[in-house]
Amino acid sequence: MKKINYNIKNTDFQKLVKKSLTRRKFVKNSLFLGLSSFIVGKSLYPVVANSKISSFDFKQVKANSLDTITIPEEYSWQTVVSWGDPLWSKGEEFNHSSRGTAYTQELAFGDNNDGMDLFYKKGRSILVVNNEYTNKGIIYGNRKNKKPESKDDVNKGKVAHGISIMEIVYNNKWQILKDSKYNRRITADTPMNITGYAKGSDLIKTNNDLEGIKSLGTWNNCGNGKTPWGTYLTCEENFNGYFSSSDKTINLTNEYIRYGIGKEDWGYSWAKYDERFDISKHPNEPNRCGYIVEIDPLNPNATPKKLTSLGRFKHENAEVVIAKDNRIVVYMGDDERGEFLYKFVSKNKYKKYGNNENIFDEGQLFVAKFADKNIGKWIELSPKTTGFKSQAEICVHTRIASSIVGATTMDRPEWVASNPKKAELYCALTNNKNRGIKTNKGGDKTPLQGPNFRKNNIYGQIVRWSPDSGDHASIKFKWDLFAMAGNPSLYKDNRRGSKNINKDNMFNSPDGVRFDKNGILWIQTDGKYSNEGEYMGMGNNQMLCGNPENGEIKRFLVGPKECEITGITWSKDQKTMFVGIQHPGEKGHSNFPQGGNKTPRSSVIAITRKDGAFM
Ligand code: FEO
Ligand code: CA
Ligand code: CA
Repeated sequence: MKKINYNIKNTDFQKLVKKSLTRRKFVKNSLFLGLSSFIVGKSLYPVVANSKISSFDFKQVKANSLDTITIPEEYSWQTVVSWGDPLWSKGEEFNHSSRGTAYTQELAFGDNNDGMDLFYKKGRSILVVNNEYTNKGIIYGNRKNKKPESKDDVNKGKVAHGISIMEIVYNNKWQILKDSKYNRRITADTPMNITGYAKGSDLIKTNNDLEGIKSLGTWNNCGNGKTPWGTYLTCEENFNGYFSSSDKTINLTNEYIRYGIGKEDWGYSWAKYDERFDISKHPNEPNRCGYIVEIDPLNPNATPKKLTSLGRFKHENAEVVIAKDNRIVVYMGDDERGEFLYKFVSKNKYKKYGNNENIFDEGQLFVAKFADKNIGKWIELSPKTTGFKSQAEICVHTRIASSIVGATTMDRPEWVASNPKKAELYCALTNNKNRGIKTNKGGDKTPLQGPNFRKNNIYGQIVRWSPDSGDHASIKFKWDLFAMAGNPSLYKDNRRGSKNINKDNMFNSPDGVRFDKNGILWIQTDGKYSNEGEYMGMGNNQMLCGNPENGEIKRFLVGPKECEITGITWSKDQKTMFVGIQHPGEKGHSNFPQGGNKTPRSSVIAITRKDGAFM
């Protein structure tokens, strides 16, 4: 048995719990529990203090399959913004029968909100939200076949993607400030500057951009990140599903196959009216997406930047931290079965009061290798380590470079979250039914190894690691599992999950993870909501909070039917928590948030304590 010493005596967390008791009621002091440090050994099960006393001061919400939000009784919630709500007064209120047009949609909040953050300027609150994708059955629910039938339908879909930026104000409830100078929509057609090592590369050039320096649009924007200098990072995930080929005899290269680029799209039909998405006509267009994009939400005229030096893959989120020597480090997951976990370390140092505009242009890109015995290291992706001719090629074909260096195939890395109290990262490995069964798309094996050791992993786990010397720039790290989801009502083997999972807090498929300022880990799920079979007792998708010190996990929220919970941020005064409810009714069984027979609409909700205390 090897112990990782998390130095639990007099940690910041203990101070925070004590301090927070005087100003807020959320977390109870749990010092008297005699917290164990996490013990990791052969079982890899985190061991939690054996106590029935919770460290969180609310009554756990029971799993359920209701078509509403369920939260503890001391809290209340409201809808802030839903798909199709206009951001300008010249827009139209959402029309439940037509479900909008390209014109009204471009003036409105996009669909399927995901990662988000709040920005503040001179007392104003500017909410920036990713609009990841659309569900055909919902956005085209007005059409007989629930498919786009016209050019306007396709364009409506395109502008329902991207990012929505809007000022919000509190007037007994949170609402959009229509016509604010900050309100902005970024869509699949918004001009972008290409920056970083792949800028100007032949791999990036197209007939529309012979220099390889400018592209159009961003789509499938999943998780997000926020930089210390106040910009927003949006992460392009399943960018491949929008491309198709009018020439069905086209040869699909290994590069296309690795990234899932095929002859048919996923039903969006974009290539029908926008030739860019036809790979037989514009073969390099897919190389211009799959990046992290930096946006300055406080400067509505700023052109978004595609940050190619941070690599091209199915980006989940971007967790930005500062290394001991002030270089910027970004942790990033590639959410696909058997793909990898990455970090970027900038060449230049962050300047607190200086210009950090080009800091993402140059730096080193690393991929994670997890070894047994709870250790791991970062392998640099460079021409020297990969045999690639240039860093530009590595930045475009990042997955292939990572396979060459023998990175660890992971169980779908979703969000990475940094503990604000210490150098420690958490990553949700959502699930991987191919673990131990099938290779990834590049042919890399998926052995039962390291933090990915359950064959046919249907429940997922949360891995965490601490960089050596507490420095995010370190090459080596130590890891353990914070939680392994499972079903302890059904199983006694490793499908039961870790010891901090019990029949009252069980869940599957952790996805969004983010810390609040107090060091509480919020866990959002995007899993199976059948509440049957292996998922019996888990109910709808949910949000839980985790105590990083003693491993306790407690359910705080259950979402409506057929949604996932994704995206979380807080008001400046920390009295409101904003949470994303994505694709309620994706299979046709929800009317959230309006109820009755209304169209289900992805929404951002605000949660406050009824007594007005801090969250
Ligand atoms: Fe958009 Fe991997 O979730
Ligand atoms: Ca996700
Ligand atoms: Ca997911």
